[in-house]
Amino acid sequence: MLRILPFFLLYAIALSLALWRKGIRTASVVTPPAEGRATHRLLIVGATGGTGRQLVAQALERGYEVTALVRNPPALGVEHARLRVVQGDVLDPSAVEAAVRDQDAVLCALGHKKFLGPTRILSEGTRNILRAMDAHGVRRLVCETSLGIGGSAWRLGLPYTLFVIPVILPFYFWDKTRQEAAIASSRVDWVVVRPGALTDGAARNSWRAGHRIGSLLATVRISRADVARFMLDQASDDSYLGSAVGVCW
Ligand SMILES: NC(=O)c1ccc[n+]([C@@H]2O[C@H](COP(=O)([O-])OP(=O)(O)OC[C@H]3O[C@@H](n4cnc5c(N)ncnc54)[C@H](OP(=O)(O)O)[C@@H]3O)[C@@H](O)[C@H]2O)c1
Repeated sequence: MLRILPFFLLYAIALSLALWRKGIRTASVVTPPAEGRATHRLLIVGATGGTGRQLVAQALERGYEVTALVRNPPALGVEHARLRVVQGDVLDPSAVEAAVRDQDAVLCALGHKKFLGPTRILSEGTRNILRAMDAHGVRRLVCETSLGIGGSAWRLGLPYTLFVIPVILPFYFWDKTRQEAAIASSRVDWVVVRPGALTDGAARNSWRAGHRIGSLLATVRISRADVARFMLDQASDDSYLGSAVGVCW
């Protein structure tokens, strides 16, 4: 066992370096849109997930017109006069296009549990979203990825850097780097939000956000409720436009 350890550590470090190279490493210089249209209509992708449910609830509380793209509408379990549910898979370009049409912004909290082999669900789904946004002139995308990628490699703490990502999540994180690269090379106004490890705890309504947050040693965390709040702020705030911003408690 001890003989394997140096090889495993080499693999973990090499993977971190590859995740650093492939994800977004620097913030683009972005000029905020001159006369931004007010944001009223939001599409939420991944609305039946942990962060997505928070996004839907909080967006409705803030008074937005919300569209949720979901595979299984009954699973959402929310009814509201300002909520429209579109049934569809993010891998189906026509379903994505129907959901994206007429929106002011898209918030993406897509995720899945197919960790054990190569997948392209996050990157292909996001490419479909970007294509539809281009086609319908929807400008703003706020997309949740994770600390541990690009310029934030190593910032999810040692347990994730040396165990969770290399052992359980290598394919998943690799697809997140493709997802980030697709967003960064798109023409939309984008913000990539990279949270620490997610909890289902209550919102604290406070967090640290920035391009260099996180920790090399300890796992940093944040609740899905606070991530959703931060993501919703990015729908109309230009502070982190064209960059990947970390967020954690
Ligand atoms: N867990 C952590 O500690 C952690 C840390 C940092 C970042 N993140 C990232 O944060 C993001 C959100 O995580 P979460 O745990 O809040 O979400 P989640 O509970 O995993 O929910 C993922 C959502 O994506 C949807 N989805 C998956 N495949 C789809 C498809 N083909 N078409 C349409 N929708 C699809 C799911 O729909 P169904 O309900 O139909 O499956 C669900 O609504 C993920 O990208 C995750 O990797 C997680």
